[in-house]
Amino acid sequence: MFEQLKQQLLAHPKAWLLTGVAGFIGSNLLEALLRLDQQVIGIDNLSTGNTRNLDQVRDRVTLAQWARFRFTEADICDRAACRRAVVGVDAVLHQAALGSVPRSIEHPLVSHDSNVNGFLNLLDAAREAGVKRFVYASSSSVYGDDPGLPKVEQKVGKLLSPYAATKAINEVYAAVYAQCYGMEPIGLRYFNVFGPRQDPEGPYAAVIPKWVDAMLRGDPVYINGDGETSRDFCYVANVVQANLLAAATTNAAAWNEAYNIAVAGRTTLNELYEVIRQGLLPRRPELASAKPLYRDFRAGDVRHSQADITKARKLLGYEPTHTIEQGLAESLEWYVANGTTDL
Ligand SMILES: NC(=O)c1ccc[n+]([C@@H]2O[C@H](COP(=O)([O-])OP(=O)(O)OC[C@H]3O[C@@H](n4cnc5c(N)ncnc54)[C@H](O)[C@@H]3O)[C@@H](O)[C@H]2O)c1
Repeated sequence: MFEQLKQQLLAHPKAWLLTGVAGFIGSNLLEALLRLDQQVIGIDNLSTGNTRNLDQVRDRVTLAQWARFRFTEADICDRAACRRAVVGVDAVLHQAALGSVPRSIEHPLVSHDSNVNGFLNLLDAAREAGVKRFVYASSSSVYGDDPGLPKVEQKVGKLLSPYAATKAINEVYAAVYAQCYGMEPIGLRYFNVFGPRQDPEGPYAAVIPKWVDAMLRGDPVYINGDGETSRDFCYVANVVQANLLAAATTNAAAWNEAYNIAVAGRTTLNELYEVIRQGLLPRRPELASAKPLYRDFRAGDVRHSQADITKARKLLGYEPTHTIEQGLAESLEWYVANGTTDL
């Protein structure tokens, strides 16, 4: 299905608005769209993203493809900027938000500004401009404390962080805009995405780039809790696929819904540590005797997370192409080539 869609897009290019384009997922989406000869308007306020990501995409596409991209440094909290950005686009892929549960616990209002006010600015700008298809990044955090596994879309628990609240509010507004204005929003609940261009730096870095970076530098790797916390780690190529399928679907039953986007697997942090350590061992033999350091559980983290992806399979035709092992193999190559450490 995805291969067929790619052929269609190549034959009939569209104009896209991609927010958060200088971030990890945004820049991977940009690369995929440009490789398909699409026209892309990208906006980002460069708060957690950076222009290095855009430079890397430029180096990986042709000059003609790069010429189809227009970047504006703008904040989605700026309504006028949102209005300007949506003019003439066929679909919106909205990725801009402040990620990280701990960040939102420390700075709830800052997360709310970008993730809720910014979201609504953009959704409303799309409405005004008559852009119906609005695909947006939701999150597995909306499952909160619901203990059920695997997670099915309709069964959510009590939210555990301001970040989760912002994503749940996004879904509420999306549904209301579908109801009141006939928009076609599609929410994608990403589960722990990883891959090239994910930032390893800073206090809010995600676990995979942080650990890879630490192992490459020979720094200690810390596991929060006993290491039996588990996640459904999802390679970014799967997320790219889901976004394009959601943006293109003509199946009306698929609109105004939220979908789990993951691989339906479950990997504990202890297992993840081992996969990364083994993957880096040929380049860093000293990792042979490395062990992680355990510390306290982190506030707001859910214990286990695993997606049921039946709904995305059925309604969007989503079929993950990369397992965690395949994704890690590709990512480790990138980290070694792009990391800050000399090997
Ligand atoms: N990475 C994951 O595992 C994961 C999981 C669930 C959901 N998500 C969601 O996916 C989206 C992309 O996440 P990512 O991992 O690529 O993070 P990222 O931080 O790399 O990218 C987010 C981008 O949005 C930009 N941004 C933030 N606030 C903005 C604002 N107010 N105006 C304009 N630009 C702004 C940042 O500068 C950054 O480039 C986010 O909505 C995030 O909440 C990510």
